[in-house]
Amino acid sequence: MNIGVLVSGQGTNLQALIDAQARGELAPATLALVISNKPGVPALSRAQAAGIPAVVVEHRGRDRVAFEDALLAELARHGVEAVVLAGFMRVLTSHFLDRYPLRIVNTHPSLLPAFPGVDASAQAVAHGVKLSGVTVHFVDASLDGGPIIAQVAVPVRPDDDAASLHARIQREEHRVLPEVVRRLAAGQLSCQGRLVRAE
Ligand code: GAR
Repeated sequence: MNIGVLVSGQGTNLQALIDAQARGELAPATLALVISNKPGVPALSRAQAAGIPAVVVEHRGRDRVAFEDALLAELARHGVEAVVLAGFMRVLTSHFLDRYPLRIVNTHPSLLPAFPGVDASAQAVAHGVKLSGVTVHFVDASLDGGPIIAQVAVPVRPDDDAASLHARIQREEHRVLPEVVRRLAAGQLSCQGRLVRAE
């Protein structure tokens, strides 16, 4: 199954996918394309270094439909069958989502439904929770609200700030995201209502 990865920044989750593929742990998923909505970000260099086609589709200067059409055109051109949002910081509408039903997953650095949106680790520290973590979920038109595929809890330490907590959460998401992508490609995820089952 050809996978397209949408990124906006550092691309450490993309790197985890690349590394998993290199170890033979991603099959039957194949990384076919990386799209960044921002030029010059480290994620693009990571894709290029791994020999994965990488393109920039800027949201700037396009309205939402034109941006999503440009994304869809690149994905179609590269035969992409499923999409991973790996630190992609734009909200997608049903115009885009309807083209890949149950074929778009996102990784988010909190135990959803707590702390959706941006700066989830800062939100968790500010709220004083004792437990945060990572959620990988199917994407629907809600903000970080789609059916949950996998979660891993990460304890919050008394001396944590947003950066230290996020760093420990990222270690877990780098492990769980490739595993979810492999299962998705293998047809091992089914979804009834909000309930996702992994075979
Ligand atoms: C990741 O931790 C991801 O969970 C988060 O952005 C980071 C991107 O890191 N995504 C969100 O907050 C989405 N709401 P990366 O570019 O190094 O993979």
